[in-house]
Amino acid sequence: MIAGMAPGDLNKVLFCNSGSEAADTSLKVALAYHRARGEGHRNIFIGREKGYHGVGFGGMSVGGIPANRKVFGTSLLPRVDHLRFAHDPANAYYNGVEPQSNEDFLLELENRILPLHDASNVAAIIVEPVAGSAGWYVPPQGYLKRLREICDKHGILLIFDEVITGFGRLGTNFGADFYGVVPDMLNFAKAVTNGVIPLGGVICRDKLYDAMMKTEAPEHVIEFFHGYTYSGHPVACAAAIATLNLFKQDNLFQRAGEMGKVLGDAFHSTFKGLPNVVGIRSLGLAAAVELAPIAGSPGKRAYDIFVDCFKKGALVRPAGDVLVIAPPYIVEKSHIDTLVNTLADSVKAHA
Ligand SMILES: Cc1ncc(COP(=O)(O)O)c(C=O)c1O
Repeated sequence: MIAGMAPGDLNKVLFCNSGSEAADTSLKVALAYHRARGEGHRNIFIGREKGYHGVGFGGMSVGGIPANRKVFGTSLLPRVDHLRFAHDPANAYYNGVEPQSNEDFLLELENRILPLHDASNVAAIIVEPVAGSAGWYVPPQGYLKRLREICDKHGILLIFDEVITGFGRLGTNFGADFYGVVPDMLNFAKAVTNGVIPLGGVICRDKLYDAMMKTEAPEHVIEFFHGYTYSGHPVACAAAIATLNLFKQDNLFQRAGEMGKVLGDAFHSTFKGLPNVVGIRSLGLAAAVELAPIAGSPGKRAYDIFVDCFKKGALVRPAGDVLVIAPPYIVEKSHIDTLVNTLADSVKAHA
């Protein structure tokens, strides 16, 4: 079912139990794939500043949120670099579209990172199509297409971490569909079971499977020494089958796209001009309002607002000085109004 929903030749699914395991699994597939092709020297990974790929050592290493890394610094993977954060503060307001930017955020990849390490040593680049945990930052127009082209040019695998964007959040099956860019691996978790039973996975392109599985090795030899006791757990798979059937039956991805427009419009009409607001971003069924930090206490204002909203029955997510809302696909306009108005009252009260 999952392969049938995924774009291009993303046809082979390796199951695990979480987004963190999906991140580590995808990095290990990248190493094993290159080695199977006689390019074992390709062992450098490139993540992105403010990226989030979970809490395993692999995901933490390619991740770019400092707080998730700082006390574990000595134990991170050694051969990792990071793309710069793909956000232009000069274009901090966008509603349901990819932002414009005059900056070329991938120039540094071509001019510094790849020459420094030599592209022939790079195994994979991993990014979230939209930076979720950092606070819903959408890359500028054309960014992911160009990243795909650069990876192709240098034989580098491109991994999309779609733990948040996968299964409908952008109104399409995957972020890859929204952007028209097919990665070599696509990591998923969360929405595949409606987030209530642990299931994650990595969808791989046929070429990865073929290079590792269609070999001369005898039948009894295990090709890829990786897997978890609970990979493909029957309960989790049953939950996924039920969830995916409901998504389809109730047309929930389309609904997510439609309600995303309602959410985006509500954010822009309500928060624009409120005190301390420095950015409003929406794409798919998620939206963020960014506030100026309190000098010397970054994150405090958003945290206080989160607590305030929670007490009033509205769950909003603080991420640094950003507040994010990503409601379930069955959300009604009245719920959006309640969430946005509660949040707006609180933003005004914490001016
Ligand atoms: C993009 C992304 N990758 C990985 C993870 C980690 O997933 P988990 O918490 O299931 O390990 C998350 C969790 O929020 C995520 O947003």
